Amino acid sequence: MKSFDVVVIGGGPGGYIAAIRAAQLGLTTACIDEWKGAGGKPALGGTCTNVGCIPSKALLQSSENFEHVGHGFAEHGVKVKGLELDLAQMLKRKDKVVKSNNDGIVYLFKKNKIDFFHGRGGFGASPNEIRVGEEVLNAKNVIVATGSSPRALPGVEFDEKLILSNTGALAIPEVPRRLGVIGAGVIGLEMGSVWRRLGSEVTLLEALPTFLGAADEQIAKEAAKLFAKQGLKIELGVNITKVERKKTVSVQYGDKTAEFDRLIVSIGRVPNTEGLNAAGVGLALDERGFIAVDDECRTNLPGVWAIGDVVRGPMLAHKAEEEGVVVAERIAGQKPHLDFNTIPWVIYTNPEIAWVGKTEQQLKSEGVQYRAGVFPFSANARARALGDTAGMAKVLAHAKTDEILGVHIMGPYAAELIAEAVLAMEFRASSEDVGMICHAHPSLAEALKDAALGVDKRSLNI
Ligand code: FAD
Ligand code: NAI
Repeated sequence: MKSFDVVVIGGGPGGYIAAIRAAQLGLTTACIDEWKGAGGKPALGGTCTNVGCIPSKALLQSSENFEHVGHGFAEHGVKVKGLELDLAQMLKRKDKVVKSNNDGIVYLFKKNKIDFFHGRGGFGASPNEIRVGEEVLNAKNVIVATGSSPRALPGVEFDEKLILSNTGALAIPEVPRRLGVIGAGVIGLEMGSVWRRLGSEVTLLEALPTFLGAADEQIAKEAAKLFAKQGLKIELGVNITKVERKKTVSVQYGDKTAEFDRLIVSIGRVPNTEGLNAAGVGLALDERGFIAVDDECRTNLPGVWAIGDVVRGPMLAHKAEEEGVVVAERIAGQKPHLDFNTIPWVIYTNPEIAWVGKTEQQLKSEGVQYRAGVFPFSANARARALGDTAGMAKVLAHAKTDEILGVHIMGPYAAELIAEAVLAMEFRASSEDVGMICHAHPSLAEALKDAALGVDKRSLNI
């Protein structure tokens, strides 16, 4: 029997980062992952690398390039004739981007001397005994990082041909004329944007009556208008009553029936606990089926930790990674801290939407006195030069202390710009602090500075 200080089950961003950090700290570490890539070979990186963050961002970039050449370049005086879509090449490139990330993790495992086992890992006779295929590993500590899988509509299985989860949505071999999307959440908006840019007529059917309820209301309202202008048809408050698979897919809701050539179902994800033998060793799950953990990712079993999508909290790769780091450090006897309030969110639509901290509606409902500064990208010089002026930066600060409580950015490169806001909040900066920092001119980051100055009604460029 091989023995390790740490055995990580799951090789997604939570698991592989936890393994790397544990190995850096001098702990003997193994990681087990069952993902099968081309030819059944291991493909480290989990959902994020194989069918999530990475391939979706590759296709978002490619499809945006296609749309820019087709619709955006003429305004810059760049004329292109004979524009053609080579979808097979676009998908091939996406696969290549994924493969280079898979290979990168293999390299990091070798570099850090992490033992890798390909297969399904689960608890054996005790929480310290982990089985993978014929192997039995003895583990002083176990980190469960088994991630999540797409939630299906009741009675409507994914076939990845007509009815697609994120896996199929990233590999449609020809552009569907009519694409339906059930759920106007993050996946629905990102994948809907990809296929709309490539020529599909996209309809998103959302159960909730409000659009993007987790985002700041002002930003969500503006985003809804922009997406509608781009041609994404979004219907809210929809109750799906029937989904019928024929040559096409017909979806009944209310008194309407819609026909689609393909249907993406993106209505959230469920934790992966099957095959772990959780019940066998008494590993507690919560009422929603996630592994129950405390704030420090400890399960009810001594020496067993759980992180990432398989536990409570936002299903985000960087949240999984940070939990992986802090758990490895706790195992090594350190006392790290993770502030869930400063985990940023990004939706990679065009414009991108990013935020950190509280929304205006949250502050109102919590009765917190705040002041807001809003600055539109239409007044930002770099955005004008880019020809990308939709959206705004918004800073919410405490009315008395001026501490920044939330930052919301919708606009070009919002995913990059939000990092400054995260840094500011980690250091408990005031809006005045950010307003006083010298930002390069012309830069998109100046929109954040101007929004911060706007909290005290002293924006310089509006
Ligand atoms: P996972 O990445 O799901 O990895 C878990 C791994 O464990 C998998 O390889 C799985 O096969 C393996 N496994 C499961 N059970 C076992 C077992 N018993 N034995 C061995 N192996 C097992 N998040 C972002 O932050 N940014 C984004 O841009 C983003 N885009 C996304 C786009 C899409 C289309 C999707 C679906 C998700 C996206 N996410 C994004 C979310 C992100 O992918 C997840 O939050 C992240 O992958 C969670 O990491 P994890 O390590 O917890 O789990
Ligand atoms: P989601 O939670 O973002 O959105 C699901 C949507 O489906 C919600 O708006 C919900 O109200 C709706 N819905 C639920 N049941 C429905 C029904 N029966 N009919 C119609 N609508 C219904 O989940 P999504 O988009 O599946 O993504 C899963 C997770 O993956 C996200 O929570 C996110 O954490 C992660 N992700 C992150 C990305 C990023 O960070 N950029 C990109 C893509 C996914």
